Amino acid sequence: MKDLEKQFTVTAADMRRVVEDFHAEMERGLCGKSSSLKMIPTYVHRPTGDEKGTYIALDLGGTNFRVLQVELKGGGRSAVVRAEKFALRKAHIATTADALFGFIARSIKDFMSGARIGAGKRVHLGFTFSFPVKQTAVDSGILIRWTKAFRAKGAEGRDVVALLNEALGREGISDIKVSALLNDTVGTLVAEAYEDRQCDAGVILGTGTNACYYEPSREGMAINIEWGNFNKLRSTPYDRALDKASGNPGQQILEKMVSGMYLGELARLVCAELIKKKALFGGKPSAAFGRAYAFKTEQMSRIAADASKGLAGTAAVLKELGIRKAAVEDRALVKKACDIISTRAARVSATALAAVVTRMDPALSSAHTAAIDGSVFEKYPRFSAKMKDALRELFGRKADRIKMVLTKDGSGKGAAIVAAVSATYA
Ligand code: BGC
Repeated sequence: MKDLEKQFTVTAADMRRVVEDFHAEMERGLCGKSSSLKMIPTYVHRPTGDEKGTYIALDLGGTNFRVLQVELKGGGRSAVVRAEKFALRKAHIATTADALFGFIARSIKDFMSGARIGAGKRVHLGFTFSFPVKQTAVDSGILIRWTKAFRAKGAEGRDVVALLNEALGREGISDIKVSALLNDTVGTLVAEAYEDRQCDAGVILGTGTNACYYEPSREGMAINIEWGNFNKLRSTPYDRALDKASGNPGQQILEKMVSGMYLGELARLVCAELIKKKALFGGKPSAAFGRAYAFKTEQMSRIAADASKGLAGTAAVLKELGIRKAAVEDRALVKKACDIISTRAARVSATALAAVVTRMDPALSSAHTAAIDGSVFEKYPRFSAKMKDALRELFGRKADRIKMVLTKDGSGKGAAIVAAVSATYA
């Protein structure tokens, strides 16, 4: 266990080095040189807070697909009037682009039949599409490659707005204008910046992870960093095994240490090794710990939240995994493994955030708000507190100048705001 702890430790010196490397990669990416950070221009600037009107927003990129009706009231006020979730199945995300976009178009049709937006009037739509996209304008962009569990064929290299328009056409929907295409980090940033002038970074810590910020040298245009792909990080044998067996080996290295899609799998690999070494469950092989992605980050979360003396909550999770009788020591060991892995995730996330903020303001001379959304940040016990601790180690009391704000529904509200700005200039 000591050894394990050492492998996953991120020291203050490690964090400082990573911040430096992150800055260098950001600079290279911005200059168009080869870099693990794509630094994609988004054509989105700071909203005024006075954008108004009713918009439709789409949110694609996690476990669910959502359609929302958003009302912007001006004065920094907005409301999600209606929202519907459509469960994405493997048949949608892992077959063809036509199947995926057909499903999206049908969901929109479904939603619109219940939406009361001035009949016959053209509605503007903002499409939050949470993958690396080479944006060519605010309302078009080419999918560079899928991440997370998505792999629908025939989408990579194509303009996703064109794919959406074609699918809308096939469904006979003609009263919708796709006015904006944006990453979820941009939606999150813009949604918070609409009401908070100090907000200049948007971060997602969920199924995947990424961030964007307003780049000073580009007249404050938001840059989508695609930080999930950052690769100047010290890895453990568990990271390397996870990467090798993944659908995108060599890519999304930071994401594989930080995000909800992978944390459970890392914990599973660590536990499997402990079992092999006879340090866990008396060395008795366990089916669940032998099966890829059987242990979920959400289960880790529940183990992390278990403060009971006999670790009954941990025992309950282990039972779900088919381990009926786990000794208290075994429960404690699994809990410790989860803790080590999630602590590293929080510290790596904080380090990346520190690099982003100091790119804008090297001396941290003013206050910054980072708008953050995603299940890991929102739900993993003590995740944000651990991020805060890491920022304090890096910046001392100045760390208080970085405010981390949970921004729910950024990809809905933000999409509406970007669509509103874009519709004004159309
Ligand atoms: C994608 C990003 C996205 C992030 C969070 C990553 O896998 O590449 O575009 O912002 O997940 O959803």
